[in-house]
Amino acid sequence: MSIIVSMGRGGTGKTSFVALMTKYLTEMGATPILLIDADPDQSLGDFLGVDLDAEGKKTISELLVETFLESGGTTVGVPPWERIEGKIWESSLCEGESFDLIAIGPKWIEGCYCLPNAALKRAIERLTKPYRNVIVDSPAGLEHLNRRITSTVDIIFDIIDPSKKALDHVKRAYRIVNEVKIEFRKFYVVGGYRFPEPLEQLVKERTGLEYLGKIALDRTVEEYTLSGRSLLEIPESSPAYQSVKEIVDRAGIL
Ligand SMILES: Nc1ncnc2c1ncn2[C@@H]1O[C@H](COP(=O)(O)OP(=O)(O)O)[C@@H](O)[C@H]1O
Ligand SMILES: [Mg+2]
Repeated sequence: MSIIVSMGRGGTGKTSFVALMTKYLTEMGATPILLIDADPDQSLGDFLGVDLDAEGKKTISELLVETFLESGGTTVGVPPWERIEGKIWESSLCEGESFDLIAIGPKWIEGCYCLPNAALKRAIERLTKPYRNVIVDSPAGLEHLNRRITSTVDIIFDIIDPSKKALDHVKRAYRIVNEVKIEFRKFYVVGGYRFPEPLEQLVKERTGLEYLGKIALDRTVEEYTLSGRSLLEIPESSPAYQSVKEIVDRAGIL
């Protein structure tokens, strides 16, 4: 089982990257895949044509609040993580043909409830076991790293934007990941769709981190996401899709 995480500032293309990677891994048979939407903004489902609300699915935040805060007491026989794990399978997990999807939702990000956090971590550890690949779409910013839902990760993709601060940002992200003691195997920098190619060399020189290439600017991606069409249906010829495939190949996920 591999845990893959996408990180980066807002709008760099994290969610579309995860969606296109899901398409590729599915086509390559690298399934089953579990997708965890950790962004309170919850756009991953939209990008993949999955409507969690319409499916009657609850976010993990909702479950945590329901289980530990509203119903009170966590002292009943069953350990908290077991209670939450069962509920996630039952009412949060949206099962698809090649991938399953769960959304963390906003409340967990906003509050700091130590017990639910520990329980959630343990539940997630167990929940991810049957999958070949687990992909986490993170919120923008770095604050969420503290309240990480998993402490062991195989691959981190940090997607960078074209701002002057992008290189400082990626160095800071790398430092914080280490400081909060997230164990990872690889930390890769990926150029977002707006990242200018001439700066690619600078990334390598100034950060010392491994740069895997750039996601191609692609109007089709924009059109699909604006019209709510699933990125799984994007044509094979899409430049963004092609570039994501190359990045995934270089990352050695398959
Ligand atoms: N490769 C691309 N080419 C052109 N536009 C893109 C591309 N990837 C994403 N976009 C546009 O940028 C917006 C933000 O992308 P998104 O993946 O949601 O970023 P993030 O998850 O980092 O906030 C999307 O709504 C989409 O319209
Ligand atoms: Mg996003």
